[in-house]
Amino acid sequence: MQLIHGVAELRQALTGAPRTAFVPTMGNLHAGHIDLVRQARQAGGPVVVSIFVNPLQFGQGEDFERYPRTLDADCAQLEPAGTDIVFCPDVAEMYPEAQTFQVQPPLADELCGAFRPGHFQGVCTVVLKLFEIVRPKVAVFGKKDYQQLHLLKGMTRQFNLDIDIVEAETLRADDGLALSSRNGYLSPAERAEAPRLYRLLKACGADLCAGQRDYPAIEADAARQLAEHGWRVDYIAVRSQATLLAPGADETRLVILAAARLGNTRLIDNIELNVG
Ligand code: PAF
Repeated sequence: MQLIHGVAELRQALTGAPRTAFVPTMGNLHAGHIDLVRQARQAGGPVVVSIFVNPLQFGQGEDFERYPRTLDADCAQLEPAGTDIVFCPDVAEMYPEAQTFQVQPPLADELCGAFRPGHFQGVCTVVLKLFEIVRPKVAVFGKKDYQQLHLLKGMTRQFNLDIDIVEAETLRADDGLALSSRNGYLSPAERAEAPRLYRLLKACGADLCAGQRDYPAIEADAARQLAEHGWRVDYIAVRSQATLLAPGADETRLVILAAARLGNTRLIDNIELNVG
């Protein structure tokens, strides 16, 4: 496994490589990331994993500074997982000048976009740059970041990028908590409380599958239950899987998206449903 920091060196290493598969990450890897690498290997070409804590997708007062940088431990997991190249670019080389790409409303400022202004602009900018640097045939993203995945699929379509986007299911701890690098911020008491989010999403899903269609009531009830247990809820929203907008009356493929804070830690999760 090669550890590469420079763009030119990476391009050189990948010259002539067929079907490169790419897993963009911000490091501090867990089993969910390693599962993305496993899926990337199935493309049959070299597997590149980027580790880059992207300043552009963190807002003021967010956790950019304290986001864990664990390169050695990450590499120790990536090598046995079959990674060929770890690409760890410098901020100065990634962003030699101000970036001005815009993600347009409505999704830029809906759901997580409303609570993290500029976040998706930062995500799309870095992923587009990384796509152009790595030039993969396949790129793997987890469904836990559902809104991110939706926007990146749209970006890939709109710019005619010749990249297959593979959507990986969310990996969960035994108690249901979605694996996330930010779970490490939770205190033991918060970690014990955290699986409530997924339990509630499943309960909302069961209500929808049983025929309930009063989405605002379902969302408000779930938010109230979380608040009663000390969460600060950013949103719980029933949306169309296809558009991530409010579902039409006869829409059957739904997703319930949630973001809520326990102490200082913001957790996101979602559950897909077919209520047809
Ligand atoms: O999902 C992430 O870890 C990040 O948003 C990504 C896609 C690596 C871009 O920085």
